Amino acid sequence: MKVIVTKNYDEMSKVAADILIEQVKKNPRSTLGLATGSSPIGTYQKIIEAYNNKEVSFKDVKTYNLDEYCGISIDHPQSYYCFMHDNLFNHVDIKEENVHIPSARGTESEIQAQCNAYNEALKKASIDIQLLGIGGNGHIGFNEPGTSFEQETFVVTLAERTREDNKRFFNSIDEVPTHAVTMGIKNIMQAKSILMLISGKGKADTVVKLLSGEVTTDFPASVLYRHEDVTIVVDEDAYSKYAEQN
Ligand code: GLP
Repeated sequence: MKVIVTKNYDEMSKVAADILIEQVKKNPRSTLGLATGSSPIGTYQKIIEAYNNKEVSFKDVKTYNLDEYCGISIDHPQSYYCFMHDNLFNHVDIKEENVHIPSARGTESEIQAQCNAYNEALKKASIDIQLLGIGGNGHIGFNEPGTSFEQETFVVTLAERTREDNKRFFNSIDEVPTHAVTMGIKNIMQAKSILMLISGKGKADTVVKLLSGEVTTDFPASVLYRHEDVTIVVDEDAYSKYAEQN
């Protein structure tokens, strides 16, 4: 596991964007695994800048997103479909048919069928770099504490901590979805390489747990120790507690 400590969010975003842009320059037909949340927004902005400067094109790039909320419509501003289009896809030359976001709408059995279809697509996808944030409780995608490392794409009941953490994007906690579809930990681990972003004082305890090196399903991100190509880009605020203790 390679850990890169950056001065702040902006530098974290630059380092991450450069890694993704280099991948696409090296192989214009790359497949990227993408994430939502506040952590990758700056990275997406830097990618858009590079695209506008004609440094990189996404016309042959394929993307697969980690997760999507159940119970809100695709055009809800907090759907991950909207998030990805607003923050990245609408601003670069990616083809809509190359964008994949789990579908989480319909009846229970329809959603289950969509999970299975997404899982099958992921098996064939061969993701070059999977971008990840991390939940305060160590979740990756929406794989909450206690999830098996063998889990594939599924419908998850969100942890209360996650709903609390994400309520800042909604008018009230009651509006925060209770369920989501997420790539499972097994799907995430199948990526050729993994790039995780961690930013802000609020994640300082999370970083201490992650870097403790203990691998446990109670802290899903710890599974990354079992992957051979992981880069963590963490800003000084998020790294501060770990730095004090080590
Ligand atoms: C959500 C997403 C995760 C993301 C996490 C952290 O729960 N499903 O993929 O990593 O939020 O979000 P943030 O980057 O806003 O802290």
